[in-house]
Amino acid sequence: MTEHLTTQHLTVVKHPLVQHKLTKMRERGTSTAKFRQLLREISLLIGYEVTRNLPMTTTDIDTPLEEMEAPILKGKKLALISILRAGNGLLDGVLELIPSARVGFVGLYRDEETLQPVQYYFKVPKELEQRVVIAVDPMLATGNSSVAAIDLLKKAGAKDIRFLCLLAAPEGIKRMKEAHPDVPIITAAVDRQLSEIGYILPGLGDAGDRMFGTK
Ligand code: URA
Repeated sequence: MTEHLTTQHLTVVKHPLVQHKLTKMRERGTSTAKFRQLLREISLLIGYEVTRNLPMTTTDIDTPLEEMEAPILKGKKLALISILRAGNGLLDGVLELIPSARVGFVGLYRDEETLQPVQYYFKVPKELEQRVVIAVDPMLATGNSSVAAIDLLKKAGAKDIRFLCLLAAPEGIKRMKEAHPDVPIITAAVDRQLSEIGYILPGLGDAGDRMFGTK
């Protein structure tokens, strides 16, 4: 049986395949191609967890043998929101799992003077208030950009939001819990701490650079 560490606010996916793949991703020597492949594979597994308790209903269908009342997902298509740019790496895998999902993007950069996140792009599906919204960003570090992204999604009407990441720092989890206690976090691991410049330790480095080969 799969064991997870689950509280109402935080789920750590302890599945052996997730943990094994994450270790490979952390390793310094892992190539860009391999990192991307592992990220896609992990996205499928943690995507499975983030969708575990989606609302369901039933529909009447005919199998080749008889009629039945069969379970299907309830409500409007899900909205997947990638927090740019590293969110795109998680997005690809989760989209494979939920191909009919609608997709949005939130772009934020950090103002070097105020250190606060500033929005540079925001495009999300319509009727967000009627959809389950899954925001994806591999690294929950300080939590500043995640909190700002969720603020924007709530302003756009989102009510049922989940946050999916690969690695989380205790500082980021605390910040998210204070700002958005209604948004559950699903992650593959909680690491020790943040470095002085906001990197997750031991972490995996800059997720964007590692998945796009920009360093
Ligand atoms: N973003 C990253 O890509 N890596 C970290 O360690 C922290 C934030």
